[in-house]
Amino acid sequence: MESGGGAGFLTTVVVLIALLLPVLVLFEAWRSRRVALADDAQEATLDPVLSTAGMSRKIVFGMVVLTEAFLLLIAYGANEPFRQAEAKERQKEFAVEAAAHTYVQYCVSCHGVSGKGYLENIGLVGKPLATSALQATDPDEHKANVRMITQTLVNGRNAGAMPAWGVENGGPLNYQMINELTIMITDGRWDAVEALAKTQGVMSPTEAPITDPVAAGKLIVTQGACASCHAVSGTAAKGAVGPALDGIANRKIGGVADFNAANVKKWVANPSSLKPGSSMPPYALKDSYLDAIAAYLATLK
Ligand code: HEC
Ligand code: HEC
Repeated sequence: MESGGGAGFLTTVVVLIALLLPVLVLFEAWRSRRVALADDAQEATLDPVLSTAGMSRKIVFGMVVLTEAFLLLIAYGANEPFRQAEAKERQKEFAVEAAAHTYVQYCVSCHGVSGKGYLENIGLVGKPLATSALQATDPDEHKANVRMITQTLVNGRNAGAMPAWGVENGGPLNYQMINELTIMITDGRWDAVEALAKTQGVMSPTEAPITDPVAAGKLIVTQGACASCHAVSGTAAKGAVGPALDGIANRKIGGVADFNAANVKKWVANPSSLKPGSSMPPYALKDSYLDAIAAYLATLK
């Protein structure tokens, strides 16, 4: 772990000193003994501390033990930040694991397994959550993200398009669960969600085959990219850039092409192919989405 690097080095040095100290003392004791034996001198002429008597040996021994204890204490203290970082990391891992369970249960249906938004490549229904903006490491941006995500989860947003999840609002998520989700999202731990979803056989709606094309088409047209420019009465689509799509099944598309599934698909994929110079931008969508759009528009009579 990087944050433990400095502390780890300091610990190693202190522990080395602690190991060397007794060796040095023993060596010194042995040497002075040898000097004493070789010279056959009086004890009093030798190093006064090391050789006088058993008493001073005990003092030296006591000092060594004290110094050792002191050094080990320093080593322990120096290692503390490292241990704290490790504990924090472990806590985070628990939070991410719990958040993955919550997310797979409640959020995949709109935001997708990888947090890319409902219809992954065009970010419909649920906004994309696996974004670099939400994973900002700048402390201020991070704080703002945490606040925004917490508030969005507790209270919901956009008149319930994003539902309220907080227990305060009758939802299933308590403060801790929301906190865990916030950690998972700001850390960008989509790997944990993907791994869990895989073991549970959960797929993003986009990966699953479209079983109800009209419903899927309605989602795309009224809650997705089309809604910013088109209105459909009785739905969330209130865009006013292009014509309202009410009754589209009963008129020519763009005033030029018969209404049928093939022409709807051609129009959406590239309006200019049917009406050169059309002001509607082309949409590069998967064929199954185009089918779904055509199926839904056919119901607008
Ligand atoms: C019914 C569909 C739906 C479900 C289920 C859902 N969301 Fe959302 N979520 C949305 C929509 C729609 C938005 C965009 C709201 C808006 O337009 O402001 C959104 C927005 C968000 C945002 C704000 C993103 C941003 O950058 O502004 C977060 C965070 C979020 N959802 C997290 C979650 C989590 C976590 C869960 C599961 C507990 C969840 N959502 C479940 C539809 C959903
Ligand atoms: C950026 C704005 C914009 C978006 C987004 C957009 N459109 Fe359009 N759309 C237009 C405009 C402008 C026209 C009229 C263009 C013309 O007649 O040349 C139009 C026309 C149409 C028409 C023909 C309507 C009529 O009354 O003849 C259909 C159908 C249509 N759009 C479907 C879609 C679908 C489906 C989507 C989403 C995949 C979509 N549009 C997204 C701007 C948009």
